[in-house]
Amino acid sequence: MADLSKRRDTLGRAFNYANNPTTLTGIVIATVAALTIIIFMVAQLAGAFKNPYIGIFSYLVLPALFVLGLLIIPVGMWRRRRKLVASGATVEELSHYPRLDFNDPHLRRIATIVLVLTGVNAIILGSTSYLAVDEMDTVQFCGATCHTVMRPEYTAYQQSAHSRVRCVECHIGPGASWFVRSKLDGLRQVWKTAWGTYDRPIETPLHNLRPARETCEQCHWPEKHHGDKLAVFARYGTDEKNTASYTVMLLKTGGGSLDLGSHGGIHWWHIYSDNKIRYVSTDARRQKIGWVELTTPDGKVRTYTRPGEKAPSAEEIAAKARVMDCIDCHNRPTHLFKPPAKALDDVLEAHKAYASLPFYKRTALAAINDDYPDHDTGVARVRQAIIDFYSKTYPEVARDQGKMVAAAADAASEVYARSEFPEMHTTWRTHPNDLGHDDFPGCWRCHDDEMQTADGKHTIPQDCDTCHVFLVEDSPTPPVLADLVEK
Ligand code: HEC
Ligand code: HEC
Ligand code: HEC
Ligand code: HEC
Ligand code: HEC
Repeated sequence: MADLSKRRDTLGRAFNYANNPTTLTGIVIATVAALTIIIFMVAQLAGAFKNPYIGIFSYLVLPALFVLGLLIIPVGMWRRRRKLVASGATVEELSHYPRLDFNDPHLRRIATIVLVLTGVNAIILGSTSYLAVDEMDTVQFCGATCHTVMRPEYTAYQQSAHSRVRCVECHIGPGASWFVRSKLDGLRQVWKTAWGTYDRPIETPLHNLRPARETCEQCHWPEKHHGDKLAVFARYGTDEKNTASYTVMLLKTGGGSLDLGSHGGIHWWHIYSDNKIRYVSTDARRQKIGWVELTTPDGKVRTYTRPGEKAPSAEEIAAKARVMDCIDCHNRPTHLFKPPAKALDDVLEAHKAYASLPFYKRTALAAINDDYPDHDTGVARVRQAIIDFYSKTYPEVARDQGKMVAAAADAASEVYARSEFPEMHTTWRTHPNDLGHDDFPGCWRCHDDEMQTADGKHTIPQDCDTCHVFLVEDSPTPPVLADLVEK
């Protein structure tokens, strides 16, 4: 009996203390936050949100509000208690429940107001959170919010085949655990951006990137690449005439699988559907590879190392071996900072008339390779350098072909704009492209004719026709592709 009345006393006291604006505010905040969290969770379980950033709200911001509300409650109660005690209230009085009489019109009005406001709050909080979440999922949010930081990647992205694929599809992908991870990582990044302590350049490769199986393969079916791919390379010289040279090859892209019947080529060999390749790189950028292991469909295992070089230890292999996936060749599917020499080739190939501007490629290349204090200055100065070159060295070209000179100068400054970012210490050189072997080691990190099995019976081949067959080599005129087809 005594126990019960004691409990009632305590409750009564609590109600008395709680009867103050601060505590009531806290209760409302906490309640609304809690209700919204529940709504979000139910909606998410029901599959209403496809949006990875919903996590920031339902798992970070709302709980923070909830905790804030909960913290405010005792603060108000404590202050109220001090006031009551100071005004001489006895413990006895403090233990009575406040009288809530709903016949009292004043109380009814207050109750209605509180109810309506709580409802309105819930709607506001819910819908603004949803809108904010939707905003954060956009490419503009990822690419442009931290303007300087993401500028290199965002710029390259806008020119890529994936410019309609949202950042989050490759960087987060579907499922709950990865978005929680990415949100926690996001907080760290926001912190670094706020204090300006982010890496310049942003390091590559991303060692915590989600495996390609769970991102790229949501859209690409790896076994589905079949056959050879015709590739035409147009290269221009740095001579006065910007001399063109064309190479045409069949890239043995391949694909398929044993199940599908036909199979082979570059894709089939390295994409874990039948074969599995693991490797250990001896540098953080994965540019030096010291150990490779191939497991063939019949379960045979071959290990390749480079004779004369110290092979990684068993512990190193256990800790560091990476299963080869799409990213080990297509590491810049979206953020390729093309070497300016090749980007200028693309310009010349698209606007063949520019080749009539003497030394266009050489001049543009020199201007692009110069150092500039910041990106925008670089863009402007590259353009100016080309205009100046023609007006000084070839005044007649500047006079007769003024329009073309201006357009070609614009094109060169765009090449700069896409591959040089002084603020982020980012250039095409800082982000190697592993597809190919012309500008970076790429395929030849393994295919160097040196990596071999211990018995020396198998090497990872470098013969030129392992990966492609030349149909035309260094032709000065654009090849007529129809003529290449055997009639
Ligand atoms: C098609 C997939 C894809 C899309 C879409 C994509 N990325 Fe990436 N991103 C990658 C890959 C792959 C890497 C490099 C991974 C590696 O080498 O480890 C990367 C790397 C990065 C890096 C690290 C620095 C670097 O350059 O390597 C940043 C920053 C980045 N992406 C930002 C973005 C932003 C911002 C967007 C949207 C505007 C975006 N990404 C869209 C696939 C993608
Ligand atoms: C949301 C779907 C989606 C995701 C995820 C995706 N891709 Fe793609 N990818 C596409 C589409 C669509 C195209 C074709 C674009 C075109 O030709 O306009 C494409 C094109 C490509 C191409 C050909 C590019 C070219 O320049 O011709 C490569 C290579 C490629 N993707 C690799 C990747 C890799 C590697 C990843 C993972 C890092 C990836 N994709 C993730 C949709 C996607
Ligand atoms: C061993 C290196 C390697 C791996 C691993 C690899 N690719 Fe490729 N892929 C290539 C090469 C080389 C090409 C041809 C490149 C070119 O067109 O210049 C290519 C071309 C492509 C294309 C364009 C096909 C076309 O016909 O235009 C797509 C799409 C693609 N790869 C997707 C993928 C996906 C998805 C994965 C992972 C499942 C993957 N690749 C893994 C080397 C690789
Ligand atoms: C991590 C190491 C590694 C990288 C990087 C790599 N490969 Fe390979 N590749 C191998 C291994 C191992 C084999 C199997 C060699 C053998 O037959 O013993 C192989 C086999 C091949 C084959 C089949 C050769 C044959 O015997 O018919 C082709 C084609 C090929 N690779 C193309 C490429 C291309 C193109 C790239 C770059 C885009 C590339 N590889 C990058 C490890 C690698
Ligand atoms: C392991 C595979 C592999 C081997 C071996 C290989 N290549 Fe390549 N090569 C490629 C790939 C992949 C590309 C396409 C790169 C791209 O799409 O930009 C390429 C592109 C090229 C290009 C065009 C480069 C450009 O951008 O202008 C030339 C030229 C070339 N290879 C020459 C050779 C020669 C010569 C050999 C023999 C010594 C050789 N390759 C051996 C995979 C290989």
